[in-house]
Amino acid sequence: METIKLSNGVEMPLLGYGVFLVSPQECERCVTDALNVGYRLIDTAQAYYNEEGVGEAIKKSGIARDELFLTTKVWIANAGEEKAARSIDESLRKLQTDYIDLLLIHQAYGDVFGSWRAMEKAYRDGKVRAIGVSNFQAARFFDFSHYVDVKPMVNQLQCNVMIQQTGIEPLLNDCGTRMMAWGPLGGQGIDGIVKNEILGAIGEKYGKSAAQVALRWLTQRGIVAIPKSSHKERMAQNFNIFDFKLTDDEMAQIATMNEHDAGTINFTDPQFVKYLIETYG
Ligand SMILES: NC(=O)c1ccc[n+]([C@@H]2O[C@H](COP(=O)([O-])OP(=O)(O)OC[C@H]3O[C@@H](n4cnc5c(N)ncnc54)[C@H](OP(=O)(O)O)[C@@H]3O)[C@@H](O)[C@H]2O)c1
Repeated sequence: METIKLSNGVEMPLLGYGVFLVSPQECERCVTDALNVGYRLIDTAQAYYNEEGVGEAIKKSGIARDELFLTTKVWIANAGEEKAARSIDESLRKLQTDYIDLLLIHQAYGDVFGSWRAMEKAYRDGKVRAIGVSNFQAARFFDFSHYVDVKPMVNQLQCNVMIQQTGIEPLLNDCGTRMMAWGPLGGQGIDGIVKNEILGAIGEKYGKSAAQVALRWLTQRGIVAIPKSSHKERMAQNFNIFDFKLTDDEMAQIATMNEHDAGTINFTDPQFVKYLIETYG
């Protein structure tokens, strides 16, 4: 597995397996399948209610802990120094591990500076190997990263061939922050990427599917991709992207597919913010 190096020197796999909308009951089976396919990075979150399933699967796998890379995220309801600190211990317990490889603030709402202080402490205490944020769009990312001591090592954003996140890249680079792509195949129920004709035609040349081309394009940009599938054969397909390389022309051709550079969610829309905070805050 190819890796990237985070700003603190921690090596992170370029490809992982995400478990958003994987039910608690199904999660252990899915993560077990993903580990058998070869994934070593697993992306979960407190808000997915399936950290226990991830923990069970990694415990039963017998894979050495230092070969795995576990990501989880502090949810809005746990924002603030004390609550975040408690939630980190709860995540460790559910994941049945002594440390989390990468801990992210899931959404940029509530007392995120308080959460960050708890995360910095967990980082210094060795409970967490790297810390970062998620869904911090450009202005919010700049504001936040400017005022914190330990700069975010990762920003996990909605990113794929149609949502390319090129606008935020210079800000991330200035901060030494790496991008991690959620929804790398377009998310749940969207066929626009996995059935895309341009990607399909490029893939034919290499004997690859549109989905594989989409994931290859991200990872070839140096962006960590974490596709989700409940089907083992698709997990295997999505994993099998390191035996071909897109040409510069193909990379440029796919770059023309950009439709919503900063994502399809407007995180500053008052209705959206009201909904999230009133529902989960
Ligand atoms: N930070 C955040 O706010 C945030 C938000 C969303 C997601 N995430 C993370 O990012 C991960 C991935 O994002 P996502 O789950 O939203 O979307 P995704 O990985 O882009 O797409 C998942 C969808 O694609 C289907 N699929 C997977 N592989 C396929 C293939 N080879 N061919 C055809 N269809 C395929 C899956 O169906 P089947 O399962 O039926 O195969 C599922 O419906 C999540 O699991 C989560 O870990 C983070």
